[in-house]
Amino acid sequence: MLERIKELQKEIEERIVKSAEELEEVRIKYLSKKGEISRLMDDFRNVSADQKKEIGAAINTLKNFALDKISLLKEGLAEQTAETKKLDLTLPGDPMKAGTRHPISIIKNEILEIFKRLGFVISEGPEIEDDWHVFSALNFPEEHPARDMQDTFFITRNPDILLRTHTSSVQVHDMETMQPPIRTVTPGRVFRNEAISYRAHCMFHQIEGLYIDENVSFADLKQTLLYFARELFGEKSEIRMRPSYFPFTEPSAEVDVSCSICGGKGCNVCKYSGWLEILGCGMVDPNVLEASGIDSKKYTGFAFGMGIERIAMLKYGINDLRLYFENDVRFLNQFEGAN
Ligand code: DAH
Repeated sequence: MLERIKELQKEIEERIVKSAEELEEVRIKYLSKKGEISRLMDDFRNVSADQKKEIGAAINTLKNFALDKISLLKEGLAEQTAETKKLDLTLPGDPMKAGTRHPISIIKNEILEIFKRLGFVISEGPEIEDDWHVFSALNFPEEHPARDMQDTFFITRNPDILLRTHTSSVQVHDMETMQPPIRTVTPGRVFRNEAISYRAHCMFHQIEGLYIDENVSFADLKQTLLYFARELFGEKSEIRMRPSYFPFTEPSAEVDVSCSICGGKGCNVCKYSGWLEILGCGMVDPNVLEASGIDSKKYTGFAFGMGIERIAMLKYGINDLRLYFENDVRFLNQFEGAN
């Protein structure tokens, strides 16, 4: 019987398996109720008393050996499958997360789409500008204090070259190069020499609008902006205009939209006024039309300008301007799924 035990041990030792099924076959062959080891146990009954101790110990050792071998084979199989998985070139690739659009781009596109539906076309202009396009042609006389409204980055070597402080400069390019009717919306980056805080930044984004044709009136401006506000903030939105001053428009106004968060009842976002300021606008000053070669007797027009960061803050409830420029994915990921 000791011979048989030795044989079995050798057999088990040499076994290799390639699959879970083969492993199960090995287990059944040696360790199941009708397996080889159980059979040894049955035969054990007939062993003479003086051999019982030795053979009993040998069967036990064989059983433990078989159990150990099976768990070794099992481990080997698991490693093997991991290995083959690693090498299986037919498996689909690991999913790669697509990036999300920046909230500024989302709102910019939304605003541009609204004006495109009204027949406006997109125009763009340079970020590095000359004094003419940013100030002079827009009716900011030289040395006029109105120039202080916007803290400008100048190039030290040549004060005629500067970073544009507003996208109104592109109005001038458009009027210089197009013939009325002109209907443009201009998105772009603008720069101001301001200390960075939660509510101010040295770089931000604006959208400028310009409409010039015969008989363009203040009523057209009002209706255009009401349509815009309702498309962007919801159809129940109302607007109100407050008289204001900009050198390039006369009359000028600042426009508030009814607070879409509290519906005009008053909340901490609208500082309990029920209104949120969203843009500046007015009828293009005849001096501005003439400076760019447009006949102010024949044509009139309106213009408006808004800050994209501000509108995105209102729409998304963002309370710190700096978040837009830090590119922290925990912030950016929150706009997943927006268009
Ligand atoms: N350019 C102005 C600014 O940056 C915004 C603005 C106001 C633009 C009135 C306009 C306008 O076209 O008519 O503050």
